[in-house]
Amino acid sequence: MRILIIGGGMITREVLIPAVQAFSRRHGRDHLLIASRRGATLQRISDEFPGLEFQAYPDPACSDPEASRPEAYREALADLEPPAAVIVATPDHLHTGPVLEAIEAGFDCVVQKPLCLSLEDSRRIAAAAEDKAAYVYTDYHKRHDYSIRALRHRYLAGELGEALCASAYIEERREMPLKNFARWAQASNSFDYIGCHYVDVFYYVTGLRPKRVTAYGQKKMLASLGHDIYDAVQALVEWENGAVLYVQTSWVLPDGNPNLTNQGFQMTGTQGEYRADHADRGTNFCTQPSGYDRFNPYFCKPYRDWNHPERIVWEGYGIESVIQPLEDILSLHQSAAGLSPERRLAKRREILAGLIKTRPLPEQAMVATAVLEAAHRSLAAGSVPVPVEF
Ligand SMILES: NC(=O)c1ccc[n+]([C@@H]2O[C@H](COP(=O)([O-])OP(=O)(O)OC[C@H]3O[C@@H](n4cnc5c(N)ncnc54)[C@H](O)[C@@H]3O)[C@@H](O)[C@H]2O)c1
Repeated sequence: MRILIIGGGMITREVLIPAVQAFSRRHGRDHLLIASRRGATLQRISDEFPGLEFQAYPDPACSDPEASRPEAYREALADLEPPAAVIVATPDHLHTGPVLEAIEAGFDCVVQKPLCLSLEDSRRIAAAAEDKAAYVYTDYHKRHDYSIRALRHRYLAGELGEALCASAYIEERREMPLKNFARWAQASNSFDYIGCHYVDVFYYVTGLRPKRVTAYGQKKMLASLGHDIYDAVQALVEWENGAVLYVQTSWVLPDGNPNLTNQGFQMTGTQGEYRADHADRGTNFCTQPSGYDRFNPYFCKPYRDWNHPERIVWEGYGIESVIQPLEDILSLHQSAAGLSPERRLAKRREILAGLIKTRPLPEQAMVATAVLEAAHRSLAAGSVPVPVEF
């Protein structure tokens, strides 16, 4: 299979490339293409992954590595041949264009969360995917975390009764808006960027749909440095059965916070409660070069290969959440191979009708997007409650 990654930033280096390598180890060698704005970004990937073979768009050897080429991914799409998957890993507000173009070109997609930031865009993506029988999966990796899977399993088994209320916190170090996302932090906020995870978790676990959102935000520390960016955003999400979810987000934690992201979830039902720290998994390191490190061994971490101990493999729910859609896409191609165009389309529709029940395809992923959009409207109107309209 050919895999095109659009966007060569943090998630591509820290999760997507290791996940594609893990997928290739399971299913045979894949042909990788990576498109980003700048050749320098792709040169950095070459430097950090010696031996990784990929076609670069733009090619840093043939162009000014610092020149911005936001349309270079179109050349990659034009060079891509099926069977192929397109992974969209551009900033939050720049998912829609590449996703729609990939679908239009006949490809299946894996999109980094959130699917997009407006309900209108998610409707366009859903309609395009429906029209072409395309698979479009949003990488809500918490669905693969055993802690969340256990909650869902026991909730669906009725052990917690009916959801009444829940609270989530997810907060990152200040390096995110100040350094890592300095180019696009003003187009997003901490609720869009990380809060969406726990909105999707609540929906994934309960199957309830959101009804109303009230959002609050504070601009203080980042504003004092001259950035018109929220330090923190909180949202109250009311659900169709009257349950309430409170999500607390920020991205101004001190540099010395021992992990990039503090995060956890609590949920109360009529018959039981769930409570989990999703950052502190009870495994910590303290080393001379790196200091204290609160270590989550379950997300996406390097380990020694069982059979080739000289080799490093990356494992965890962050990896599985990318491998699952790549395997779905491979299986879609295999199931429809050799069929006429009409029968191929019918076969894909039949398979997709089954997958929509269990995967964050657009109909599911748009739930969190609808909440994000309502939160934006609530913030803009001075924290008034805003209905979520599907
Ligand atoms: N699943 C996760 O664990 C996880 C973690 C972090 C980020 N994310 C999501 O992944 C996405 C990317 O985040 P990131 O951390 O890699 O951000 P980043 O800023 O480090 O990288 C984004 C990259 O996209 C590139 N880009 C922008 N416009 C482009 C275009 N037109 N064509 C090609 N490339 C373009 C940028 O140049 C940059 O290299 C975001 O949506 C984010 O929310 C997911």
